[in-house]
Amino acid sequence: MSSRPLPELPHEAVHLFHDDETGLRAVIAIHSTALGPAIGGCRVQRYASETAATQDALRLSEAMTWKNALAGLPFGGGKAVILWPEHGVADRTRLFEAFGRCVHSLGGRFVTAEDAGSGVADMQAAARSTSHVAGLPRRADGVGGDPSPWTARGVFAAMQAAVAERDDRALAGMTVGVQGLGHVGMALAALLHRTGARLLVADVDNGRVAEAVRRFDAEPVAADAIVTAPMDILAPCALGGAINPATVHKLQARLVCGAANNQLEHPGLAAELARRGILYAPDYLVNAGGIIAVCAEYGDGDLASVERAVEAIGPGLAALIRDAEAKGETPARLADHLARTRVADGWSRRRAA
Ligand code: NAI
Repeated sequence: MSSRPLPELPHEAVHLFHDDETGLRAVIAIHSTALGPAIGGCRVQRYASETAATQDALRLSEAMTWKNALAGLPFGGGKAVILWPEHGVADRTRLFEAFGRCVHSLGGRFVTAEDAGSGVADMQAAARSTSHVAGLPRRADGVGGDPSPWTARGVFAAMQAAVAERDDRALAGMTVGVQGLGHVGMALAALLHRTGARLLVADVDNGRVAEAVRRFDAEPVAADAIVTAPMDILAPCALGGAINPATVHKLQARLVCGAANNQLEHPGLAAELARRGILYAPDYLVNAGGIIAVCAEYGDGDLASVERAVEAIGPGLAALIRDAEAKGETPARLADHLARTRVADGWSRRRAA
């Protein structure tokens, strides 16, 4: 790894929005536009406070910078979060129309799409107020629509590649724990079931667990026990922080590979996992399938290029694992360095132009 020092990259901007009429409270964080307009999904969640929502937006937008840079996309990193009111909202469509106005006010510096808690209908509502939105209903050429199946495909490709690098067993027959059975987790569980993996599943929504048990012959596990249950592979597909100081020493999986953003509560936990012989596939590398599809939709890409780029996540991870081994580094640190180098080079090019 080059010893060239990389500059710290503070966030470029954080915007807070309030709309009394619809009850909208949102944060849009723009981490970097070094490689292009900031792009990132819109997370909808209950937060304890505006400070907690802002912290989430800051962390998630930074992760988008690294994700987009590693995937070779001509976009920077940003993220929106909507603070879901405790008593719900009177009109969800109007709330997202108001959110669209917030996005539009940034003049194209930020482009949004779905994330945990939002869906295609929400993006359609936002699109009434702004053109800086993707994840809209699928076009006739197959591009667009819910990006989650692409995210699941990318994670699945990464898992296959990591298993091929590390094990002489196949993914078929292995036990995979899927934490979170939402848009991505359920689609990933379907792919794993089809390939012959045995599934452990958990969600705080019992209906989703029941669906996975029925469709995939999966074994239900309590939501607070899935991370440390006996299994070969853990796929965190809920919210962030599955690997934290309380779980890192109890993990029984040999590979962590899932869709959730910010799976490590702090970056130092990657080294702790490596010390225990557990391979951690960097989240922002393996969960890039959705943003690859979103960028193609926003930038007029075609379906074949999306398929190629999403399938390339597997070989990309395999190369990173080999490179990290050769350099005595963790894949997470090496990915971080690569992404930061690309962004720093992006800034240098912009300054020189
Ligand atoms: P989603 O909102 O559809 O699903 C999340 C699921 O996790 C829900 O079923 C929820 O009930 C469950 N959950 C929440 N807390 C839990 C807990 N403590 N234990 C077990 N289950 C829990 O979200 P989606 O879209 O499936 O995204 C999942 C993760 O992947 C998020 O972290 C998201 O940021 C990330 N991601 C999603 C992408 C996409 O294309 N949708 C792209 C890249 C990352």
